[in-house]
Amino acid sequence: MNFERENIRRMAGYTSGEQPDNELVIKLNTNENPYPPSPQVSEVLRQFNPESLRRYPPATAQKFRQLAAELHGLDPGNVIATRGGDELLRLVITTFVDPGEKIGMTDPTYSLYPVLAQIQNCPIVEMPLMADWSLPAEFAQSMNDAKVKLTFLVNPHAPTGVLMPIDQVSNLASELNSILLLDEAYINFVDHDYQTSQLIKQHDNLVILRTLSKGYSLAGLRFGYGLADHSLIEPMLNKTRDSYNLDFISQLIAEAAIADQDYVRGNWRKVIIERNRLKVQLHELGIICAESQANFLLATIPESINSGAAELYQQLKERQILVRYFNAARLGDKLRISVGTQEENNQLLSAIKGLVDQH
Ligand SMILES: Cc1ncc(COP(=O)(O)O)c(C=O)c1O
Repeated sequence: MNFERENIRRMAGYTSGEQPDNELVIKLNTNENPYPPSPQVSEVLRQFNPESLRRYPPATAQKFRQLAAELHGLDPGNVIATRGGDELLRLVITTFVDPGEKIGMTDPTYSLYPVLAQIQNCPIVEMPLMADWSLPAEFAQSMNDAKVKLTFLVNPHAPTGVLMPIDQVSNLASELNSILLLDEAYINFVDHDYQTSQLIKQHDNLVILRTLSKGYSLAGLRFGYGLADHSLIEPMLNKTRDSYNLDFISQLIAEAAIADQDYVRGNWRKVIIERNRLKVQLHELGIICAESQANFLLATIPESINSGAAELYQQLKERQILVRYFNAARLGDKLRISVGTQEENNQLLSAIKGLVDQH
């Protein structure tokens, strides 16, 4: 007997990046932050009293929502805290999109979006990005013509790192008839002032996704949040969210982390400096990267370098360096490389140089 729903039986599921046990591996494959979380996080863990686990945690993470609201100049009714950004994506679908309604996205995009659409049994409407990975001018019109109910857009884009101008984000929210889920998982690594949170006051169809996984070095914690008009937050917060979606320890850690802005901003600056250096040095080896404002680079590997991207991925892996290879249209000759510490990036560069010299 197979009890799976028909659409679940047909789908393949999400493929996570490799997570090796070996501490010696240089891990540049899943866009984690190479620096540790705030010292305030260690302090929370040091002082934590297990006795407090006897009780259920605050159901809506009120204190975290207050802190996030202050950070973004909004009110707590504009914020929902979720188990990673991924839970927000799932909540937006289950709250606002019926099975059979369409979900729009670009191609390429974050590979979890199509999986979540398949789980809800929603047809996917994809539109290819331009050659420079920018959004086609007719994107909103196409989504509207296809009667899309929810549009996913990742900005800075994954897996390219390309950032859209703010005006374009705002125009898109105006033009779309659907909800726009603006996924800002990588926004902390933008090298200039770029604030979209106030846009939710003008657009009641806009949901902004944030996560503590990348900018706050807390991928293992599973904590994210959404910003939107009250009318979008309210049903997710009070109806579709799991009863206690965030455990007590995570809430305390997330509160400490988001309160320590000076510390995280220092890390963001270090990542930006290393991103720029890595990009220049890869260029010197003949490897051109897209214009990234994220904590990764999408690098095009010429055939002349060790027979291309798939081969280079394998050879780096043999040398204990993991990067991401996507066997997908338009990405087959590319590697996505997360920006590591200066030391890790140097090891990557010297491994590539060694392989190029050998070739
Ligand atoms: C584009 C994008 N959005 C959202 C997420 C979700 O992150 P998390 O669930 O760790 O908060 C990720 C994680 O890799 C991502 O790459």
